[in-house]
Amino acid sequence: MEHLKWPAGVTIKEVGPRDGLQNEKTFISTEDKIAWINQLSESGLKHIEITSFVNPKWIPALSDAVAVATGIKKVPGVTYTALVPNLQGLERAFKADIDEVAVFMSASETHNLKNINKNIGETFPVLKDLVRDTISAGKLSRGYVSTVFGCPYEGKVDIESVIRVSETLFAMGIEELSLGDTIGVANPKQVQEVLEVLLKRFPADKLAMHFHDTRGTALANILVSLEMGITTFDSSLGGLGGCPYAPGAAGNVATDDLLYMLHGMGIHTGVDEQKLLHASQFIQDRIGRTLPSKSFQAASAVLSGKLGNTK
Ligand code: HMG
Ligand code: MG
Repeated sequence: MEHLKWPAGVTIKEVGPRDGLQNEKTFISTEDKIAWINQLSESGLKHIEITSFVNPKWIPALSDAVAVATGIKKVPGVTYTALVPNLQGLERAFKADIDEVAVFMSASETHNLKNINKNIGETFPVLKDLVRDTISAGKLSRGYVSTVFGCPYEGKVDIESVIRVSETLFAMGIEELSLGDTIGVANPKQVQEVLEVLLKRFPADKLAMHFHDTRGTALANILVSLEMGITTFDSSLGGLGGCPYAPGAAGNVATDDLLYMLHGMGIHTGVDEQKLLHASQFIQDRIGRTLPSKSFQAASAVLSGKLGNTK
């Protein structure tokens, strides 16, 4: 069988403290958030999205963003990112000395409106100012485009809209664009088709994939993305997460599951699975429900002696 082309290494961007916690009903105390992020920082992860500076009335779970961002122990070499929707949020992010600002918008009008209270056309100038001020402050700038593979309100999303939003964000000056399957509807064939179009316009090393695992297709979608040359993936520890303004959205692909797959394939990530196992256990205990990650559940079962270790 012909050997498929996989990269030697990939970059994992941990979004659990932001995408994971934003949709949780249990409010995780500031102290526990800080302790958890500190554990993530010690695991070898080089990119952690720690919170968001959105309107706290919209996302109460992250209303302590400044306290979290200023309370963590920053590890040299780790980039600490936060999601920011507008200049008011940027001011808070600067106060908290965030390394990287992630701006976000959707490829579909209705999700954009429900999520950030503006249509696509109205969002562009807001993000343009945001990216400009981020860059002139010497900070890194990342962009997200949501609903790339489907919208909870409109269904199918026109690829032309994905292209337009992506091109506009790159023209503003973002360094990397993360393509969001916000509601986890993508399948591997669709991922291949969308990437074939986008990779004609943008280099693979400027794109990241952000798969939610609502329907269990995230790892399959990642495998296709890897084969197409993408080497940066967003994931959330334990599979926490979801967008509160996308009904039925479930968590991101679990970092635990992604690491299990990549390391098993001999693909390097620099992340220590054992250290993350403890971090998953920590947040599961705080959230008070079983985390969706299959790999984490299997590892916990082995640890608690329920299963024999088959290695
Ligand atoms: P708005 O209500 O239109 O804002 O919200 P506004 O400018 O009219 O201001 C209204 C009030 O909000 C004012 O306060 C402002 O001061 C305050 P008031 O006078 O009423 O007391 N305000 C703020 N306060 C603190 N920080 C701020 C801020 N901005 C305004 N930054 C806004 C517009 C964008 C702010 C709002 O819609 C919002 O916060 N939306 C965020 C929703 C969100 O966080 N969604 C989840 C993240 S996106 C996601 O999960 C997808 C992703 O993971 C990728 C994928 O999966 O596809 C990234
Ligand atoms: Mg997301």
